[in-house]
Order: sequence, then C-alpha cells, then structure tokens
Amino acid sequence: MDNKIKNSIIFVTGGAGFIGSYVIEELLTHEPKKIVILDNFIRGSHENMKNFKDHPAIKLVEGDIRNSEVLEQCVEGSDFVFHMAALRINACAASPQEGFEVMLQATFNLANLCVKHKVKKVIYSSTASVYGLAQHFPTPETDNPYNNQTFYGGAKVWGEQLFRSYKFMYGLDYIALRYFNVYGPNMDTDGKYTEVMIKWLDCVRDNKQPAIFGDGTDSMDFVHVKDVAHANVLALLSDVSDEAFNVGDRVETNLKQMLDTLLHVNHSKQEPIYKEANSINPVSRRLADISKAGKLLGYKPTISLEQGLKGLSEWYFEKQKQTHKI
Ligand SMILES: NC(=O)c1ccc[n+]([C@@H]2O[C@H](COP(=O)([O-])OP(=O)(O)OC[C@H]3O[C@@H](n4cnc5c(N)ncnc54)[C@H](O)[C@@H]3O)[C@@H](O)[C@H]2O)c1
Repeated sequence: MDNKIKNSIIFVTGGAGFIGSYVIEELLTHEPKKIVILDNFIRGSHENMKNFKDHPAIKLVEGDIRNSEVLEQCVEGSDFVFHMAALRINACAASPQEGFEVMLQATFNLANLCVKHKVKKVIYSSTASVYGLAQHFPTPETDNPYNNQTFYGGAKVWGEQLFRSYKFMYGLDYIALRYFNVYGPNMDTDGKYTEVMIKWLDCVRDNKQPAIFGDGTDSMDFVHVKDVAHANVLALLSDVSDEAFNVGDRVETNLKQMLDTLLHVNHSKQEPIYKEANSINPVSRRLADISKAGKLLGYKPTISLEQGLKGLSEWYFEKQKQTHKI
C-alpha cells in the first residue's frame, strides 16, 4: 500500500470530536502536509485535540458545516475528506429540522464541493444504526436498512446512497464505514449506551451496587475507538472505492457481561441489582460481520473489551481527579 497521506492535504469535518480526534492522531503519523479541521464544538473539545492541536500541520477552523462558504474554503485544495461531523441520534430525534440541515443538507453541499474541487476520496462515517434490528447475526453489509426506525439512521443511509450516486454520476471515490458501538477514552458520557458504562464506573468509585435495567441480555458489539480510527486510515490508504464496511469487533457482549468485565478490571466485588427496564430498546442485538473489511481493507480489531475497559476506567478516574482538583 503506497502512502497516499504523506504530503497530502486532508479535510476532517468534526475533527474535534471523539472519533475524529483519534483519526487525526493516526493520520499525523503518516506526515500529511496539512490537516484542516472544521468543527463547531457543539460536542467536540480542545481537550480531545490536546495531543495535536499545536502540531504545525494542523489548521483548526471553528465553524459550522452548514455554512457553505466556510465549507468550500476547507474543501478547496484538499486531496481527501473525512466526513465525521454529525448530530447524535438523540439530537436528531429532538430536532429533525436541525438533523436535516446537518446530516442531509450539509452532506449534500459537501459532496457537491468534493466533485467541484476534485477531491480524490471521501471517507464517510456511517453507522450500524442503518440496520435497525438486523436480519442476520453476525450482520453482513448486505442486510437491508428497512428495519431502521430513526431519523439518524435514515440520514446515514441517505448519506451512503448520496456518495454512491456521486461515484456513479461523477466518479467521486468514497468509502462508507458503519461503526458499531464505539467506546474509549474521551467518549461521550451521556450517550445511549456509554451513559451506562459511566454510571457503572461511578458505582465502582463509590463502592455501590450497579443497576442493570431489564434482564441484561441486550447485546452490543463494542469496538475500541483506536480500532475505528485505524479502519478510517486503512479506508483512505486502500484503492477500494464505492463500498460500505462494518467496523466492529465481531464479539457480542450483553450488558451483564459488560458489567462483569468492568467490575473485574476494577477488582470490584459488587453484584448488580436488576431493575425494571425503563424503556423499550428496539435494537436489542448487535454483532458485526467484519469479514469484508478484513478482506478488502486489512482491518482487524486489536483491543479486547477487557483491555479497552481497563483503559477507559483509568481515563475516567483520572478525569474525575482532575475535575475535583479544579
Ligand atoms: N460514537 C459512536 O459510537 C458512533 C457510532 C456510529 C457512527 N458514528 C458516527 O461517527 C462520526 C463521529 O462520531 P463521534 O462519536 O466522534 O461524535 P462526536 O459528536 O464526538 O463528533 C462529531 C463532531 O462533529 C461536530 N459537529 C456537529 N455538528 C457540526 C456542525 N454543524 N458543524 C461543524 N461541526 C459539527 C461536533 O462538535 C463533534 O466534534 C459521526 O458521524 C457519527 O454519526 C459514531
């Protein structure tokens, strides 16, 4: 694989976010000429960027992808684009109008600008949400998206299809990556499943019994953010185009197992208490078939849940110490 990144100019939307900041850290090891980050900091942070914000190749633009002029200034001259800026699933549900502007309208503008300025390849952050509750487990990329019930998932399906049609009509190369349940240091602490990890870590810290809502059998495919970042870099380096790939760990972990692992890595002897489920989870199971990404991109997850949860616990407890010092 030749190094396309060296001396190239890369534009990353949402680069101050959780996953984007890890992607940038890995990209920098390949010596790009410049990385332009556009982020409005509704979720991203300077803290996420602390390992690279003073790097000479980094250019940070604080702005909104909905601003077409700013967007064009960032796309112009770029060789490659990572499109990672998005609203969270709950934010899209809370404001479909804003969801439309960010997830659809701005993505549409971006695709047009990529064609206009002859961008060589776009890596689009998609999601396992496109499947809703999938038809098969492990879920291959060929499972259909008709079980998705969310605006967010629908917008990502459309984004994938937009890039597909632009490849067909204009030859714009792209890859869509469908991330499963991403976790790791800097993750959002009030997300749908991440919130539960954080609540359990609080119980570990306070030596309290952690609660499981429901019977603990809902499962997910947890993938460490560093593995996700590596998948992004592999997608750029490879010559593959016009494909969507699952990015997961191919390990199904239910809530009870996740809690057991979290307690184990923290040497906690607490036992869970079970409480009645307070909401219905329409997606009770997730497990990625990652054989396609393995075959075509050389993707192979490297961080086990046990290792990952150990690192996550260290990060969280350190962050708490720092916050209490202030
Ligand atoms: N974290 C996950 O588990 C997960 C799973 C599947 C897909 N994804 C997708 O991966 C991508 C990155 O996710 P993340 O977890 O890093 O989320 P994140 O919220 O941490 O990162 C998104 C970034 O985009 C920025 N942003 C949002 N709206 C913007 C706008 N209008 N203009 C400019 N910047 C804007 C935010 O400030 C944030 O820094 C997103 O596209 C997300 O949909 C994430």
